[in-house]
Amino acid sequence: MKKVVAIDGPSGSGKTTIARLIALKLGFNYLDTGALYRAVALALRSRKIEPEDSDDILKNVLDKINVRFGNGKVFLDGRDVSEEIRSKEIDHYSSVFSTRKIVRDFLLGAQRNAALETDLVVEGRDTTTVIFPDAVKKIFLDASVEERARRRYIQFKIKGFDIDMEEARKGIIERDKRDSDRDIAPLKKAPGALVIDSSDLPIEKVEDRIIKFIKTDP
Ligand code: DC
Repeated sequence: MKKVVAIDGPSGSGKTTIARLIALKLGFNYLDTGALYRAVALALRSRKIEPEDSDDILKNVLDKINVRFGNGKVFLDGRDVSEEIRSKEIDHYSSVFSTRKIVRDFLLGAQRNAALETDLVVEGRDTTTVIFPDAVKKIFLDASVEERARRRYIQFKIKGFDIDMEEARKGIIERDKRDSDRDIAPLKKAPGALVIDSSDLPIEKVEDRIIKFIKTDP
């Protein structure tokens, strides 16, 4: 395994933005694991699979699909679905289907293989605890529910989705609960992780703190 910097944290805490910046600064590759879960949710939903469906039904789909992340984009069976996975529907179903062990097992190899040949900045829930527990540096990026809801609201509005602040807030609370309460790989802080609350911090400050932390020994 090459050098891995792993960034964990709840939905809307800014992991994706900061991971991209850090990867650029370090000259490392970048992996957005949430995008992989979203692509799987898209594959399942486009085949009308429901959250209550059995493992066998899910497996039948997972056996046939190919999900890949490269150059900041996610591909489902060779098709770039980076935009499609950012809908409200996929926001919801990626959180729901990511509670299924069969889905997590399906994506495990793809995530670990990303660090076989290149240094990597990886982000997503459980990347510091389950996927790369031996990462050289671990960061837990947090922000208040209000701030994360505000960011989500703005993101959706820019994309032209119909949403109000209360709906964005409820969505964040619901996903926090599901991501933290699930039995497998729940959201939690890894020992030794640098914890940053980005609620009132400009992105450059967050970036500075992380770069400083990465450059400290060991
Ligand atoms: O980070 P995101 O919002 O793009 O992730 C989408 C969903 O995927 C999120 O609700 C939780 C799930 N996820 C996960 O369970 N484990 C990861 N490593 C990344 C994402």
